[in-house]
Amino acid sequence: MLVLGLESSCDDCSAAVVEETPSGPRLRSLVRESQDAIHGPFGGVVPELAAREHLLQVRAVMAEALAQAGIRLQGLDRLAVTRGPGLVGSLLATFSASKAVAWRTGLPWVGVHHLLGHLNAARFAAPDLPFPALVLLVSGGHTHLYLAQDWTSLQLLQKTRDDAAGEAFDKTARMLNLGYPGGPVVDACARAAGRAADPFTPPKFRDGKASWSFSGLKTAVKLRVERTPRLAEAGASDPEVQGLCRSLQEAISSWLLKPVPALAREQGARSLVISGGVACNSQLRVDAAILAAREGLALAIPEPRLCTDNGAMIAAAGALLPPDPAPWIQNADADLKLGA
Ligand code: KG4
Ligand code: ZN
Repeated sequence: MLVLGLESSCDDCSAAVVEETPSGPRLRSLVRESQDAIHGPFGGVVPELAAREHLLQVRAVMAEALAQAGIRLQGLDRLAVTRGPGLVGSLLATFSASKAVAWRTGLPWVGVHHLLGHLNAARFAAPDLPFPALVLLVSGGHTHLYLAQDWTSLQLLQKTRDDAAGEAFDKTARMLNLGYPGGPVVDACARAAGRAADPFTPPKFRDGKASWSFSGLKTAVKLRVERTPRLAEAGASDPEVQGLCRSLQEAISSWLLKPVPALAREQGARSLVISGGVACNSQLRVDAAILAAREGLALAIPEPRLCTDNGAMIAAAGALLPPDPAPWIQNADADLKLGA
């Protein structure tokens, strides 16, 4: 089965052709138009600008994905598109385009929850993953831990009490004037560091739970920059900036993984999936591998281009879901709930 997957929930306009085979999904093409140059000067995604840009990009992105896969629309078996959650103006670009194509071609169509997409990104490299799985979804908007019984269900176990982990990366990069998006630059700086700066103190919770909170971390970075103002202008090659990035990254990685062992035992999990943009992080990938080996968990972290938002993960999830009989009466949903 050949599926065209479309995703535009935030600031990436992406299309991919995925072939669903008995031994799992195979990537036939993946195209992504970045809007970093547009949002960079603002230090974050500007929803209205993102929506307008998606409208300009969507046709060419779809056409390029089909061309790279060497097929025409008529050669597809299914269309899959992100239905939500996300920025509604952004979602509407690929959502409306997919409905129009479904109307024109009569192809089966399926609307996909964005987070089921992130889970299914792991299916490319680990189609035989043993379930139940703990699923850590970490991005600019999410820091959520789920239990999955299969590739199409997610049950929330815990989430951040305030900011997402990706925000801590993005805001740190902003305070240090390192550029946008923050995750990849902070990661590169951290890897270049000779040694880490003083460690950040983990948050403590009154109920004693191994919870997550990242807003204090942002404040802690701010205080360090205020104490040493030259850090804000020193740039990515400065050893002190690099050390700060290293300790930030070590903190985020260890805090993210902290609740995993106890929850894995409690839930009888056999594997750990980590996906979303922050799953690209080099420290998190190394720390997760060590933890998974120690706890006897199978580990699935998608290759970096499948961790960030992309059409391939939507196609992979869409291949497993029942098509909708009447796409044209469906709508994108900025607050789409799981299971809806
Ligand atoms: O999944 P994603 O592409 O979009 C959202 O749904 O938010 O995730 C984007 C987030 C951004 O916060 C970005 O800074 C972060 O993922 N990110 C990283 C890395 N690459 C991207 N964070 C840490 N290390 C990275 N290498
Ligand atoms: Zn995402």
